[in-house]
Amino acid sequence: MKLNIALLPGDGIGPEIVEQATKVVDAVAAKFGHEIEYTKGIVGATAIDEVGDPYPEETHEICMKSDAVLFGAIGDPKFDNDPNAKVRPEQGLLAMRKKLGLYANLRPVTTFKSLIHKSPLKTELVDGADFMAVRELTGGIYFGKPQGRSEDGNTAYDSSVYTREEIERILKLAFEYAGVRRKKLTVVDKANVLATSRLWREVAQQMEPDYPDIEVEYMFVDNAAMQLIQGPKRFDVLVTENMFGDILTDEASVITGSLGLLPSASVGTHTSVFEPIHGSYPQAAGKNIANPLATILSGAMMFEYAFKLMDEGALIREAVEKSIDEKVVTEDIAEGGKAYSTSEVGDWIVNYINNK
Ligand code: IPM
Ligand code: MG
Repeated sequence: MKLNIALLPGDGIGPEIVEQATKVVDAVAAKFGHEIEYTKGIVGATAIDEVGDPYPEETHEICMKSDAVLFGAIGDPKFDNDPNAKVRPEQGLLAMRKKLGLYANLRPVTTFKSLIHKSPLKTELVDGADFMAVRELTGGIYFGKPQGRSEDGNTAYDSSVYTREEIERILKLAFEYAGVRRKKLTVVDKANVLATSRLWREVAQQMEPDYPDIEVEYMFVDNAAMQLIQGPKRFDVLVTENMFGDILTDEASVITGSLGLLPSASVGTHTSVFEPIHGSYPQAAGKNIANPLATILSGAMMFEYAFKLMDEGALIREAVEKSIDEKVVTEDIAEGGKAYSTSEVGDWIVNYINNK
């Protein structure tokens, strides 16, 4: 197969981790006889510095023409502490999601046996936890209008807005994922307070009869935050709106022991985007110490979701698992023994794949 992949390394550790992921993707492609063509695009703070726009039109065109996008991270501390900055790197990510129509963000949360003790939660709570968080990604309070400030500057407002259609399409996807998993769907909302949540619940209840084999439960978001920590194993597919999903998935990432392990896929109308859920980790940029596994696993998701190449994805997962078992890992998950560098972990995984 010929695979056209857009590479958007972005800021901070983005370039280093994307480099490891492309090494691994190349190794798998060579093994299975696929031909890969990469096209690089700029995004985030890097793009602001170069052309004044965090998601330039040229980058968008590269994404639109590609079969999949492999994305690193964006964000730069120089913008975080400046509330008056006119453009911010994060706007690039939001613009990309909106323009590519990426309404669904899939964040699988799984544990690695040999890392369970790194979780801050008790082993018996975490061992075997395996769920998929489905986060709505192009609606809600992130995009709702009006948003802004009053003229005197003393009042600020954001609006959470959802249409029936937006809710239906994300719920449909969540029901379908539940159908191929353990057939349990948790709809997370705040229907006791928010009008948007009540519409979510109404739509979900109307859709329930179309999926008779799926057990549906409704959970308020505050309770969900608690349940994730108290008993993550109860979840199979969890679906929720944009901001609740943002918050709950950072919380969920801790269950596994490191934020550096979780990949994600954003899918929708146009090209899908594959990226680690962690940020640009600016303190580590250029030091060759960041954990590349979340991005490498995003490469596995890319094979599986964008190209339906399951064996290729499985081989990456196997190699990652082996590297963890063999303790060839970066400092965030290393213990006692040696901590390997970002590129050494990448090399080890490539070597494993080559020798398979
Ligand atoms: C994420 C991030 C982004 C979000 C930021 C960087 C805009 O936290 O992908 O979860 O809030 O969606
Ligand atoms: Mg987030």
